[in-house]
Amino acid sequence: ADDKSNLLDSDSFIYIAHRGASGQAPEHTMTSYQQAKELGADYIEIDLQMTKDKQLIAMHDDTVNRTTDGSGAVNEMTLDEIKELDAGSWFNEENPDYIKEEYIGASVPSLREIFEEFGDEVNYYIETKEPEDTEKMEEALYSLLKEYNLIGGSVDSSKVVIQSYSAGSLLKMKDLDDSIPLIQLQRKEQIEEMDSLEKFEEIGEYAIGLGPNFSSIDIAYVQNAETAGLLIHPYTPNEPVEISGLKSWGVNGVFTNFAESYVEAMKTE
Ligand code: G3P
Ligand code: CA
Repeated sequence: ADDKSNLLDSDSFIYIAHRGASGQAPEHTMTSYQQAKELGADYIEIDLQMTKDKQLIAMHDDTVNRTTDGSGAVNEMTLDEIKELDAGSWFNEENPDYIKEEYIGASVPSLREIFEEFGDEVNYYIETKEPEDTEKMEEALYSLLKEYNLIGGSVDSSKVVIQSYSAGSLLKMKDLDDSIPLIQLQRKEQIEEMDSLEKFEEIGEYAIGLGPNFSSIDIAYVQNAETAGLLIHPYTPNEPVEISGLKSWGVNGVFTNFAESYVEAMKTE
């Protein structure tokens, strides 16, 4: 969005950098976030996992297998153990068009390192993952957000948005601080259950919007959300034509791996 002061306004159409600039860089590494920042991301998307020693790290999966050269469950490894891993070489092997020497040996960032690096220079769209199994993820997140002075602004321009598939996790965040904007994520199965305006209004009791799987929504879903006063940020369209289609329906932004697809879609009406 051009006007950075109203990113969460119902008229906006924002670019949420999904796992950073993950189409061209190894997801959830500092370079992926740095590139997203340079590409004009309105928000940087971060998935959270918690280590054995209760440190928050940026990682999508609950094991290190797919995105590092190690193996094992995140919650059975310490942060020090995870910091030893190479989180970049897998990307070069799988993405011959985007190989960069600098990706070799990239590390898994802790949330603290991310806040140290970017401070208030970027906005963060943070997902609590599997919080039912992960002891005290919300408290740890809240305490870091406070330490780095990232919360407490106005809802329309908040530097931080919290997203989760778990309504319980969102409600825990709300208990900790009711000024943080919350987004309820939805998979296909939850989207199919959204068959009345009341169900949208129920989500509106605690969240400012929905983060649905883009391929499972239709115009009726978008209209119900709008009527209920909910924002919609679908994940994860990567083709310009997908993004421009969603934009024409009136959604408020997209999670995408490719900044250039967003830029391309913004040229259409
Ligand atoms: O958080 C939006 C989107 O990333 C949800 O799906 O599985 O990629 O985290 P996932
Ligand atoms: Ca996510």
